[in-house]
Amino acid sequence: MSHPLRIAVLVSGTSRGSNLRAIVAACENGQINGSVTLVVGSRSDSPALQFAAEKSVDTLALAVKDFSSEEEYDNALLDALDNNNTDLICLAGYMRLLSTSIVQKYKHRVMNIHPALIPMFYGQGMYGHHVHEAAIKRGVKISGVTVHFVDEEYDTGPIIVQIPVEVTSDDTPETLAAKVLEKEHEAYPLAVSLFSHGRLQVQPDKRVKVLQD
Ligand code: GRF
Repeated sequence: MSHPLRIAVLVSGTSRGSNLRAIVAACENGQINGSVTLVVGSRSDSPALQFAAEKSVDTLALAVKDFSSEEEYDNALLDALDNNNTDLICLAGYMRLLSTSIVQKYKHRVMNIHPALIPMFYGQGMYGHHVHEAAIKRGVKISGVTVHFVDEEYDTGPIIVQIPVEVTSDDTPETLAAKVLEKEHEAYPLAVSLFSHGRLQVQPDKRVKVLQD
């Protein structure tokens, strides 16, 4: 994609928005060819939406409970993404499974970040502190972060970037979460940057090839 990307970031109710900030910073410093033009969350008072508003980025508060059905919510979200002329959707702490209509329309144009090395500690129910608790409990020596394209299931889409983090014997779920978060802020901008420079190619076998600069 040669034109600057229009990026929509989807967050959840109380998202702190640190990945959103990292993506915005990478747009501002030129690592990513594009800008965040829309942030959607379920609460206008979340730190993520507040930050977006301060940056004069369009924000939208959409909560499933305000719609008569999940389908109506999904349609409203799809309309908002279309009206934004969205090139890329970045899920950053978005808790719902994205509707099939959005996943299909934006095939290989939706990314998610997961705070573990997929296929470890992933899938439905594996989010936030659950991931790091499971990693500590299992005693893994390495965890990390994965950025992947989104398909119709939880965390099963093509993997774009992974960065490992060493787990030491004195780590707790909290210290591991902090170490992983630091790498999230490298991995997400990197994945979006590669996409923005047209360097990601999803192969028929679902492996992602990173093309040379
Ligand atoms: C991150 O830990 C990410 O891996 C997960 O949700 C969290 C979002 O954090 N998918 P933040 O709101 O970007 O700080």
